Amino acid sequence: MKLSIFSRLALGYFVIFVILGIVNGYTLWQLHQISRGTKQIINIDERILEIKKKLVDNILSQMEYEKKFAITKDSIFYEQFLSSQSDFQNYLKDALYIANTKDKTTYLNQINNSYSLYNALVIDDLESIKNKKHFSIVKNEIEKERLVDNILEDLKALETSIMKDVHRRMNVLSEAGSSSRKLTLIMWVTALVLVLFTSFFTTRSITKPLTSLMEKTKEISKGIFKSDLKITSPPEMMELTSAFNAMCDKLNKVEKMKSDFFSTMSHELRTPLTSIKEGIGLLQEGVGGTVTEKQQKLLSILTEESNRLIGLVNSLLDIAKMEAGMMTYNFGHENIGLLIQQSIQEVAPLVESKKIKIWLETTDELTHPRIDRERMLQVLRNLISNAIKFSSEHGQITISAYLEERGLLISVQDTGPGIPKENLYAIFGKFQQPPVKTSEWTKGTGLGLAIVKNIVVAHGGEVWAESDIGQGSTFFVLLPF
Ligand SMILES: Nc1ncnc2c1ncn2[C@@H]1O[C@H](COP(=O)(O)OP(=O)(O)O)[C@@H](O)[C@H]1O
Ligand SMILES: [Mg+2]
Repeated sequence: MKLSIFSRLALGYFVIFVILGIVNGYTLWQLHQISRGTKQIINIDERILEIKKKLVDNILSQMEYEKKFAITKDSIFYEQFLSSQSDFQNYLKDALYIANTKDKTTYLNQINNSYSLYNALVIDDLESIKNKKHFSIVKNEIEKERLVDNILEDLKALETSIMKDVHRRMNVLSEAGSSSRKLTLIMWVTALVLVLFTSFFTTRSITKPLTSLMEKTKEISKGIFKSDLKITSPPEMMELTSAFNAMCDKLNKVEKMKSDFFSTMSHELRTPLTSIKEGIGLLQEGVGGTVTEKQQKLLSILTEESNRLIGLVNSLLDIAKMEAGMMTYNFGHENIGLLIQQSIQEVAPLVESKKIKIWLETTDELTHPRIDRERMLQVLRNLISNAIKFSSEHGQITISAYLEERGLLISVQDTGPGIPKENLYAIFGKFQQPPVKTSEWTKGTGLGLAIVKNIVVAHGGEVWAESDIGQGSTFFVLLPF
């Protein structure tokens, strides 16, 4: 079952609520149990104990009133006896009503029985006295005393039983208290762990696909358009993923179309351009008849322009090949110092005409084990010719190469117009020519640095530029070993 983000969050929170609800419910139930036990002690046991005291007092008073009446025959004692008697019965009824154990009820019933017998004897005696009948006082007296003793004994036993009961109940309560404390603690810890797990899994099930999507976006920004993202849930993410994959497919197609276009066009252009250049060369050599000075000037302009066109076509072909991953590299041990010297020699005429001074800071023995000679020369040529192109007359160019911690670091520094900070990254893209304050920039194609970057990256290296407007620029190439 694939749950949406909303259902995941809702379900996660619901589970957390249920867990907390159960723990709280259990705690409340435990508290209720303890308070019920306490109430029982206060409401029942204490009350029966009170009643017991009253019963003892009452039975003793009854005996006294009865005796006083037998001696004085004063009816006031008879009435007091009767009122005590009804009190006794009421107390007993109350006690029986709230008695909550078998023991208590048994004792109270026994008391009730003894009291009924005692009562019957007393009534019998008192009636006889009233009617002045002759009766055997001694016989009843002994029997009554025995019954009262029984009652008092039962009351005493009742008290002992209650005390025992209270004691037992207190023990149970204290045990229940400590075990419920333990259980509650365990439940809280379990609940906490469960809540943590639930929230972790809910959050992770949402953030994990988000992270994959983020990684994919980073790849796309680097120009890798693989449509291999696989996220099956939550459904919202699945939709986003298929849109992402579709976008990658489209981008791939567009990229391929572009590369195909470049390579076809370049092939188609290179052949006729070379013929034109050669034709011009023959004309300049006088193959087509004598050439006037004016014609000679026009022909050299034509040579320059066709050279530029050939350069552009070559660059286009190179970049198309590189981007299609069809460029082959022949890596080997190369002496970087010598390569730099060779590139400088190639541009010597241009350097001389612009009266530029070139400083070389490197040693001859700087070798690197994994260099494609021709491609690295292309890199150096591009960087050095840019430095010359963007330098004004009498400018200075410093080329250095040295070993540092991260690898071999080559730098080309000029005293040209500099590059605005916001363009320092973009200039390595294709056709990127932010206007610098020189008339020269229009003469380029904007492909040189893109080719440089491709070659350096193929060497496993990095290329970047640092610059301050008006202070010149420095281009760095780092080649790790
Ligand atoms: N040494 C430099 N000084 C100033 N700007 C430079 C320098 N090198 C490159 N740039 C800037 O980077 C852009 C791209 O350079 P590049 O790819 O070699 O293309 P191109 O040389 O054909 O213009 C240039 O148009 C220029 O704006
Ligand atoms: Mg250039």
